[in-house]
Amino acid sequence: MNEQRKEGIVSSIISGKGGVGKSFITVNLASELGRKGKKVAVIDADMGLSNVATMINQDTPFSVVDWIKGRADLTDVYQKSPYFTLVTVSHDLMHNNVDQYLLLNALDQIVDELRSSHDYILIDSPAGTGSMVFWALDSADYAHLILIDEPSAISDIYKLSKYVLQVSPQYPFCAIVNMAESADHAKRVYERFNEIMNTFQDYSLPYLGGIERDKAVSNAIQQQLPLFKSHQNTTSKLALIKLAEQTILLDTTRAIRINKNIV
Ligand SMILES: Nc1ncnc2c1ncn2[C@@H]1O[C@H](COP(=O)(O)OP(=O)(O)OP(=O)(O)O)[C@@H](O)[C@H]1O
Ligand SMILES: [Mg+2]
Repeated sequence: MNEQRKEGIVSSIISGKGGVGKSFITVNLASELGRKGKKVAVIDADMGLSNVATMINQDTPFSVVDWIKGRADLTDVYQKSPYFTLVTVSHDLMHNNVDQYLLLNALDQIVDELRSSHDYILIDSPAGTGSMVFWALDSADYAHLILIDEPSAISDIYKLSKYVLQVSPQYPFCAIVNMAESADHAKRVYERFNEIMNTFQDYSLPYLGGIERDKAVSNAIQQQLPLFKSHQNTTSKLALIKLAEQTILLDTTRAIRINKNIV
């Protein structure tokens, strides 16, 4: 990675509950940032259940665990795709028993390298509250919380953010609403969540934008392509373009380098 040294911004994509669109949003936000001329990397941190590579039909012969186990060089772990650099933590559920200390240290080193060579590094986190989620939160400058209008999804993300705020009261979260019925509906979901955070955590988070439930999303996933490859200007495609614009604005207007100490 002998390129001009950068100071990339790291964000994690978090939800608590599974299946809310983290990987879809990661892939498409990364692709849109790339289309805006930014150099982007994605870390697929879903141990054993990685699917970013599948979503863009990308071959990923080597994972971070392969590097730790001496089956690959570090350079093999940075997979070039047409849209972004992809780092897959592991393809194999059997790797769940890999030494956590070694793995998290290896990932820290990878994040440092990516920061120096990319503008944006997006970490696609697994669902739940495992060590990879806390590592992603700790390594990131801020987190995108993915909300959907379901009580269990809202309560899971609330519990997770409450825990993080107990350890790191200023942790920078921002909200994206997915699978909404309309732009207004998305905004209302955000406002309700922000009100809960205000009332019970004395915390307010910015709204990055909403994505409607859209057949074009399943089509793109089926075709293993980012949304922008479709010629139609679907609501989801336009929403992702806006999200990328807002992401760029957000990064220049928020204080993002704070001491987090979540892990
Ligand atoms: N806006 C949307 N409209 C329609 N379908 C969507 C939308 N967002 C996501 N989906 C669908 O929801 C499913 C889950 O998406 P995705 O895999 O990105 O979720 P996830 O949060 O990463 O899941 P996991 O927690 O298992 O990693 C996908 O099949 C995708 O097609
Ligand atoms: Mg996922």
